Amino acid sequence: MPNKSDTDLDPPEIEDIGSNPAPGRGLGDMIAARLTRRAALRGLAGAGAAAALTEALVTEAIAQPMPVPMQGGPSTLTFPELRHQLSQTQAVAEGYEAQMVIRWGDPVLEGAPAYDPKAQTKEAQAKQFGYNNDYLDYWPLPAGSGSSDHGLLCVNHEYTNTNLMFEGVGEGRAARGRTNAAQVGIEIAAHGMTVVEVKKENGTWRSVPGGRFNRRITMETPMRVSGPAAGHPRLQTRADPSGTRVLGTLNNCAGGNTPWGTVITAEENFNNYFGGAAAETDPQAEAYKRYGIQKDATWSWGRHVERFDLDKEPNEPNRFGWVVEFDPYDPESVPVKRTALGRFKHEGATHAVSHDGRVAFYMGDDERFEFLYKFVTARPWNRDNPAANRDLMDEGTLYVAQFAERGRMRWLPLVHGTGPLTAENGFANQADVVIEARRAATLAGATPMDRPEDVETNPVNGRVYVMLTNNSRRTPQQVGPANARAANLHGHVVEVIPPGAGTPQVDHTATEARWEVFIAAGKPGIDPGTRYHRATSETGGWLSCPDNVAFDSKGRIWISTDGAPVAAGIADGIWAADTDGYGRALTRLFYQAPTGAEVCGPRFTPDDRTLFLAIQHPGEDPGSTYERPSTRWPDFKEGEPPRPSVIAIVKKDGGEIGS
Ligand code: FEO
Ligand code: CA
Ligand code: CA
Ligand code: CA
Repeated sequence: MPNKSDTDLDPPEIEDIGSNPAPGRGLGDMIAARLTRRAALRGLAGAGAAAALTEALVTEAIAQPMPVPMQGGPSTLTFPELRHQLSQTQAVAEGYEAQMVIRWGDPVLEGAPAYDPKAQTKEAQAKQFGYNNDYLDYWPLPAGSGSSDHGLLCVNHEYTNTNLMFEGVGEGRAARGRTNAAQVGIEIAAHGMTVVEVKKENGTWRSVPGGRFNRRITMETPMRVSGPAAGHPRLQTRADPSGTRVLGTLNNCAGGNTPWGTVITAEENFNNYFGGAAAETDPQAEAYKRYGIQKDATWSWGRHVERFDLDKEPNEPNRFGWVVEFDPYDPESVPVKRTALGRFKHEGATHAVSHDGRVAFYMGDDERFEFLYKFVTARPWNRDNPAANRDLMDEGTLYVAQFAERGRMRWLPLVHGTGPLTAENGFANQADVVIEARRAATLAGATPMDRPEDVETNPVNGRVYVMLTNNSRRTPQQVGPANARAANLHGHVVEVIPPGAGTPQVDHTATEARWEVFIAAGKPGIDPGTRYHRATSETGGWLSCPDNVAFDSKGRIWISTDGAPVAAGIADGIWAADTDGYGRALTRLFYQAPTGAEVCGPRFTPDDRTLFLAIQHPGEDPGSTYERPSTRWPDFKEGEPPRPSVIAIVKKDGGEIGS
């Protein structure tokens, strides 16, 4: 979902004021007394004290030891960085080329008609590439070959820009309330995922329509529910009295995968699709509220499809907000909602194999003042017997992060019967804990964060990088460890350092870890509390609103953004940096997105010679419509709207990206 500022007209996240009723006072109050003393000592007491205090707190909380500069160049990255700019089209660093792989509406399945925005149907859309590509995964073909020239792309389709898909529906958010039944059908088919074969021939990538493994997963694809919430009365509906069979997956943002070869797709802002008077009157009203479910849904699906109407199916929203696992190499496989990993607005779920073979999944809940989680499997994964891994994600422990001062943190277990997670607090069993994971985490003492987005482990140094995209509503009293800035407009990146990081003994199962701030984003010298490794270049080095992240095999970080401040003349894009050495956190702009778009995905092929990017919601600007979009990227065809697309970036000389 876009992370635009509070003044934007369109995005659903305008409603994202945060659902956490007790976002916590952080350690703000506690530290404030100490800082007030310090401010007084500095002669800062008086009228300006509050502002000075915030700044002092910021400075203190994010001050971290800098790495010792080493001899040699400032960065191992060799591309000349781009300048910040706004444009109707994309730009990539000199020496690189962006190739089109697949666009919204392009044929995926056998028999899919060619893209025709004026004659779109639900049936056509269900065989074509969906809308608003987000998470990207790449799996080699043949399976296990390690090929970097031929594989399967697994792509999330998070949501629809109704105003840019259909003629005559008007602009922005209001368009979503004006759709007729046929248009809603198209939207339902445009959500979900695509698995599509892709091939590099003579240096150029293309998709293979009708490929043997190609698949569309939509909001109507049958799925199974497993884990503690499977079959729970709160998951039962008239269409599924068993509470174990769900149609579809919703608002699939980022994702991840498993070491045993399956893909994970994460359900994020599912709340926006459900509405009805029951939002305020149902016995579950409090629980709805905690997840942002309101009387008036953003999308008008409930007017045309019964299950999105809370008054008819009050439990349907409980069947969303999970992570979903499926086998990319089997188009017939039934995706499984793994409820042991908790129900919240899942940005993604990325794995890290621990010293003993158990697997941790790190997960962000992308909303202001929500939490960072991890799930640790009860058993190690089995390299030799794939069948043994099939239900590994059903048994294990869900934890939530609590950050403390001096770089310390704990992982608190969300286990029924532990601490406050008891019947007295409304948790009859583990099913209640996972269905209301947010409330459980609050009671357990989790640290409210600045919108945790993608979380990923660096394959080289073993540290876990948490993208905290922004939080304009954090007050000075609410700042605390790991969330050190009030009115955090630009976000930051936190490194979580598990015991043994960077060694084979790394322990991702541990209940304690350390943390550091890697980047506090924004413009150095302008935005308070900004921190990079050192002053970044004035051309393109500074970034805002980190969202997705990937690492190349050298352990360098590639950060995509969502919500760059247009007013400052900067577009969303991809920034890269070393994570260690002299170039640590010295970010450089590599790719700039067309107007209105954010960049999702980033995914390298195993040889680091291709970087796939998902360019999501091009033209999502205030006032933009089907008839008069702010850009017609990528086709620039008069009379046609922009199209979310997946591109492949390659180096013109065929070399490794960034080297
Ligand atoms: Fe869908 Fe958290 O971005
Ligand atoms: Ca986003
Ligand atoms: Ca995201
Ligand atoms: Ca990622």
